This record gives sequence, C-alpha cells and structure tokens, in this order.
Amino acid sequence: MAGPTESRHGMWSNRWLFVLAAAGSAVGLGNIWKFPYIAGENGGGAFVILYLLCIAFVGIPIMMAEVLIGREGRQSPINTMRHLIKQHHRHPAWVLIGWAGVAAGFLILSYYVVIAGWALYYILQMGSGALEGATAEQAGALFAEFLDSPIELIFWQTLFMVLTVYIISRGVISGLETAVRWFMPMLFLLMAVLLGYAVTSDGWSQGVEFMFRMDFDSLTPDAVLAAMGQAFFTLSLGMGAIMAYGAYVPSSASIFSTVSIIAGLDTLVAVVAGLAIFPIVFANGLEPSQGPGLMFVTVPLAFGQMPLGALFGTLFFLLVSFAAITSAISISEPALAYLVEEYNARRGRVAISLGVISWILGLGTVFSFNYWADVNVLGQPTFFDFASFVTDKVLLPIGGLFIGLFGAWALPKTVIGAQLGIDGGFRAVLWKLLAGAVAPLAVLVVFVNTLLG
Ligand code: TRP
Repeated sequence: MAGPTESRHGMWSNRWLFVLAAAGSAVGLGNIWKFPYIAGENGGGAFVILYLLCIAFVGIPIMMAEVLIGREGRQSPINTMRHLIKQHHRHPAWVLIGWAGVAAGFLILSYYVVIAGWALYYILQMGSGALEGATAEQAGALFAEFLDSPIELIFWQTLFMVLTVYIISRGVISGLETAVRWFMPMLFLLMAVLLGYAVTSDGWSQGVEFMFRMDFDSLTPDAVLAAMGQAFFTLSLGMGAIMAYGAYVPSSASIFSTVSIIAGLDTLVAVVAGLAIFPIVFANGLEPSQGPGLMFVTVPLAFGQMPLGALFGTLFFLLVSFAAITSAISISEPALAYLVEEYNARRGRVAISLGVISWILGLGTVFSFNYWADVNVLGQPTFFDFASFVTDKVLLPIGGLFIGLFGAWALPKTVIGAQLGIDGGFRAVLWKLLAGAVAPLAVLVVFVNTLLG
C-alpha cells in the first residue's frame, strides 16, 4: 500500500541530505533573530520552557505528520492532498491544508525577505568596521537610522529576493545540497564563538537566569500563544514546507529519527542564540524586551568589542543571510512545486512571479518601520506585526492541527504503518495519541485560552 517511490521534482541523495535541507529550512531568522526578541518580549524564563515543551510535544509529531504525508503523496502539498483524498475517499475540504499553506507562505516570505535584507546590510556594516568599539547607543542609533530609510530597506529587500528567486528557479535539490553541507557546520562554529564571548561577559549569569528562571506567574495566555507560534515558525511547520521537502525523501529513511535530529539541531541553535544575546543585553544595560531590533543591536555590539570582531561579525551576518536563504527557499517550495505541476510551467517563470508578488507584499513590512510605523492593521500595531501574527499565531498552528489530524486519523493504518516503519501495536497507538490528539488538542487549548484570556 506504499505510495510512489520517486517525485518528479527530484529526490534527496540520502537521508542525511534531507536532514541538512530540513535543518536548513528550520534554522533561520526564526532561531537567531526572532526567538531572542520574542523570548525577551514575553519575559524569558517560563516562556522558554513552554517553547521547549511545544517543540517536543507539538512540533515533533506535526513535523513527522508532514513528512509522512509528503512522502506518501510525493507531489506539492496541494496535489499530495488531492491525491490522498481521492485515493482514500476523504472529504475534499482537507485540500484546504494545501491552499492555506500557500497563502501563509506568501505572507511569511514577504516579511522574511525584508528582515533577511537587514542581515545583508549588516555584512557590509561589520565588514567596513563601522561598529568597531561602538557603544550601545551608537549601535542602536545606526540601526534606527537604517530603519528610517525605506529606500535602503527596499534596496536590501530586493537584493535578497533576487538571490532567492535565482536559486529557486534552478531547482531545490542540487543547489541546496551543496550549500547546506558547508554552511550548517560553519554556522554552528560561529554561534560557538559568540557564545564564548557571552560566557565571559559580565551579563552571563543574568542572561542565563533570564532565560531559564521559573516564573510561572508571568505566563499570560498571550505568552503561551507566542511560545506555540514560535515553535511552529522555527520548525517551518503548518504550511506544507516540510511536506514539500518530505516528498523528496527516500522511502528507506526513518521519519522519527530524521525528524528528531532536525528538531534537535533547530532547538540547539535557538537556545545558543538566546544564551549568546541576553548576556550582551544585560552587560550593556539594554532592554531584553526591545523587540525586532534586538539582534541587530546586540550582536554588532558584541563583535565590535571583540578582537578580530570585524572579521567574525562579517562572517556571522553572512551565515545568518545564508541560513535565511535556505529557509526562504523552503517557504517558496509548496507554491512553486504546485504551479510547476499544474501548468507544466518552467520553474524560472514561476519563481519570478512568486518573487514579484511577495516583494510587493513585503513593502508593507518595509513601511512598518518608517512611514506606517503608527498605522494599526486589524488590531495589530503595524502591518509587520499583523503579518507575523496571522501567520505564526493563526495560520501555522491551525494548519498544523489539521495536518496532525490527517496524518493520524484520515490515512489507513497500513499507510501509516509502512511510512513510520511500525506494525500496529503500542507505537501505532502512541502515534495516534501524539499526532492525532495531544498536538491538535494543545493547539486548540491555547487558542481557546487566548480568546478567553
Ligand atoms: N523556520 C524558518 C526560521 O526559523 C522559517 C521558515 C522556513 C518557515 N520555512 C517555513 C516558517 C515555513 C514557517 C513555515 O527562520
């Protein structure tokens, strides 16, 4: 009862390259930029612990469900869902998982590219030595001035979008496989350097305490929702990105072990990023809750004070940009693969149209930091906050909820057994329990709580 063994878009060379590619998708701005500032905004401590619980009990089962479904269908998420619905006589509405994912993808890509553009800009800033010996005020002012200039933001947004479109037009597999082999290990190394600096700074113990203290009073429903949203975002879940990559996974790879490694690597990078950034925050009298700019102020500050800081700093932002590009590629893949399948279109053309649409949407985020800084969008302080809210806290968790339900209940036992390499019994029950009940219920409970709270 197993599905096809090959995808028309190509296949990962082996399971390790899938691990690297999926880790390339998961590890990105979400870990290094977003995690520290969201943790900061939500008071650290209890937030971080809740986030780790979400990764383990919601993230891992849902990621397994995405890989399982993707590998069973071996097409873009939309067509995979169509195919599985037809084959197993399920309700046609399940296909909404695919469509909602594509919509979420456009919105995520639109702001992701803007922020990734900031990282590109900082490659230059670090390289020129502009931040050498800078004080916290100077680093803050440099960033504030940058945000104030829409033209500059658009320039870097455009550059990053062009790079992304260029790579995705050439196909995911070959380009990505070469890239992730090199940059993932280098990124880990550079994070270690930054961590080493943080450990020796005055703020170390305060930073650690901030991240891991158990102040469960500060756990507002909003903080709980933020922790869950961040877990989905950082693991690239809920919109079919991992499902699309799952379609290219060789049939012999074990879903549980590959997914655990991917989630482990992603979590490691986020925790190290936090442990590198918060001590610098405290050592320099900055605010942990300062929002999206956190990384772009603290990290340049730290490198500006280190020997060989210009070199390491340049390298760091280079690697962050790289991490962002491997993530941006995966955000585009569900829509791209679908359009290629549906219209037999060339990847190049499709990639350009996709890039143009999300570039235009991205202007909303660019202006959120200057012209439209005071324009509320549907109850959110800016367009950027709105895009981020709708995706992380609504579309991704709801998408994930239904992906879990589909992977646990809508597919026949035989299919699930073959994909997970289990033959009924205890592990099959555990699967239904985690992917089909615990994870979806957790999402539901968090939502209800937020609505009531
Ligand atoms: N996980 C990536 C990060 O942390 C971003 C990302 C890539 C993503 N693909 C995604 C987020 C799909 C949500 C859905 O930076």
